[in-house]
Amino acid sequence: MSAGRSNRFASKRVQAMPESVFATMDRAKARARAQGLEIIDLSIGSSDVAPPVVALAALRAATHNPETYGYCLHTGTEPLRRAVSAWTARRFGFAPDPETQVLPLIGSQEGFANLLLATTDPGDLILAPDPGYPSYYGAIALAGLELARMPLLEPNGYLPDLSSIPTETARRAKILLMSYPNNPTAAVVTDAFMREVVAFCRAHTILLVHDFPYVDTVYGDYRAPSVLTQLGALDTAVELYSASKSFHMGGFRIGWAVGNADALAALAKVKGAVDFNQYLGIQHAAVAALEGAEADVRRVAKTFQARRDALVEALGVSGWSVPLPQASMYVWAPLPRAHADSFAFALALAETTGVCLAPGRAFGEQGEGYVRFALVRPPEVLARAAARLREFAEVEA
Ligand SMILES: Cc1ncc(COP(=O)(O)O)c(C=O)c1O
Repeated sequence: MSAGRSNRFASKRVQAMPESVFATMDRAKARARAQGLEIIDLSIGSSDVAPPVVALAALRAATHNPETYGYCLHTGTEPLRRAVSAWTARRFGFAPDPETQVLPLIGSQEGFANLLLATTDPGDLILAPDPGYPSYYGAIALAGLELARMPLLEPNGYLPDLSSIPTETARRAKILLMSYPNNPTAAVVTDAFMREVVAFCRAHTILLVHDFPYVDTVYGDYRAPSVLTQLGALDTAVELYSASKSFHMGGFRIGWAVGNADALAALAKVKGAVDFNQYLGIQHAAVAALEGAEADVRRVAKTFQARRDALVEALGVSGWSVPLPQASMYVWAPLPRAHADSFAFALALAETTGVCLAPGRAFGEQGEGYVRFALVRPPEVLARAAARLREFAEVEA
């Protein structure tokens, strides 16, 4: 299916959307499967962990309750908004107003795309990370925005260098987008960095959008800071959360936004024209998870940590030394020395070994030279993938 330039019905907005590298990867996967190879798919961050039992029980119960069957208006989302506020208070020590500072989303991806439509006009400028989650670029094109890329580079810990943003660009920017723990680089930030970015956005009257789906995928003692705990952040920032990552409910499509009341009111208005909120039963599942799944969340974080350890160790044995991330469900690895093109590497690897990785270039120009492993299989499967990589690299060398 193509919605590109040859599609006579595609709007200019749609034509401006970048092609997805993942579609080509999907074809490579199909060819590997046709050759009878066992596929180890580490290319997509779709969790293989089951949602919390309490969430599934709440959803099952809701399907027996006819009161959940109808359209869900904003008032119907109140239990979820209250649960989000209480969770935020427990986690970060402040309780957003459930009426004005919390808004349910049909996944954070939906929330981001509609937030752009709600708070910008075509031609406005957005500061966005490169590399970054690919759907950002599609949403930015859809909203008709001018993209000013903030390179996330290894020497700077994959943080944007705010001091290198030209004054004129900062003055014109309507939105600054960032996401930590980061996909794809697995970088994390400190409170001090959050302070700096809030001050920057306040000084230039920029809406700071912090995409925060990996708040719970943290290892060891690391705790991911919320931008909203910084002084004055609620004047200038919105944070996007996702049950896809915190509670492994990616297919259920539920998330929430917390932050600036004006931005959320504008977003609610757009959503009023576009959707009718997520099914109430799924909202009940999210409430149950927010209220009763803390132990599951901590246990699963340890599961991902063990996977990280297994993969990084097995890659090390293969002679591929990669940094040990403190959070996210990814390992971001510079390509082995003999390779320069991440896309060619990932395609050849998939077709020869069945191991599928995401090529760095899929995340933006600055992602070239890297591949991303998603930790979505058990340790023994990750070790098997690393062993196949070793054979492949020897064959290719
Ligand atoms: C950084 C980032 N944002 C958003 C999403 C999508 O989240 P959701 O399922 O809530 O739309 C993902 C999914 O991988 C992601 O990595």
